[in-house]
Amino acid sequence: MHFFRTTIVALILAFQSRAAEEPAHGEAESKEMGPVAFMWPSDRVWSEKTDNAPPCGSAAQPGNRTNFPLMRGAVALVIQDESWNVEVAVAYGNNPVSESDFSGIRGMRADEVNEGHVCYALPESPRAVTDGSNATIQLKYTSDFGTDKNQTFYACADITYVDSAAFTTPIPCFNVTSEEFVTPKESGSVSVHRHWNVALAAILGLAAVVAAAVL
Ligand SMILES: *[C@@H]1O[C@H](CO)[C@@H](O)[C@H](O)[C@H]1NC(C)=O
Ligand SMILES: *[C@@H]1O[C@H](CO)[C@@H](O)[C@H](O)[C@H]1NC(C)=O
Ligand SMILES: *[C@@H]1O[C@H](CO)[C@@H](O)[C@H](O)[C@H]1NC(C)=O
Ligand SMILES: *[C@@H]1O[C@H](CO)[C@@H](O)[C@H](O)[C@H]1NC(C)=O
Repeated sequence: MHFFRTTIVALILAFQSRAAEEPAHGEAESKEMGPVAFMWPSDRVWSEKTDNAPPCGSAAQPGNRTNFPLMRGAVALVIQDESWNVEVAVAYGNNPVSESDFSGIRGMRADEVNEGHVCYALPESPRAVTDGSNATIQLKYTSDFGTDKNQTFYACADITYVDSAAFTTPIPCFNVTSEEFVTPKESGSVSVHRHWNVALAAILGLAAVVAAAVL
């Protein structure tokens, strides 16, 4: 445990010195992802041009599917900018093409999410879904990221259900907000450091997952 704490402190220091070298003013926000993205399961290739297009915010077809347990599944999100009306929906089948193919998952709705990580446990999948069934999980939310108006954003993660007993991958499921890692001294220029804090939050969270698995 002592080693674990030392490692965390080293990581915090490394990230803070890195953040101090960042140029300035929002440049640091990632251009590799939208304001909210799937951390697990993996989402389709992101593009700024398509991320407001329903139902999946991507020009890509379902390609790389993540194995997903029939029971005790979860969706882990990374948030780099405050967003609203976050909804998670699912379409059973190989290639959903429209909004109407998706149905909302009960309880999978958040009025607001803040920078950091959030993970939602999914209810058990319906009986008709069995080992080998394909589905697409959709993320839909509102954000004013990079603009002065709210827009709807979409992302999709393609999955294949597997028997829970055969599913051994630890899901990186944790909640953490970037504010938890911002020292008071830094808080005047938080936005510049935002994506470092999100990255740091990711590492700390993963470290926590690993520690939980090991200890
Ligand atoms: C599948 O994953 C590979 C490697 O990450 C990537 O190069 C490829 O573009 C992905 N295919 C699709 C259809 O997303
Ligand atoms: C699920 O998708 C994969 C490829 O994405 C495909 O090879 C497989 O046949 C699909 N399974 C079903 C049950 O349709
Ligand atoms: C977008 O919507 C949220 C929630 O309703 C609101 O707090 C925010 O100010 C809006 N942003 C803009 C630019 O209108
Ligand atoms: C994370 O927070 C959300 C919203 O408060 C909650 O529904 C979810 O269960 C939490 N997840 C974990 C892993 O604690």
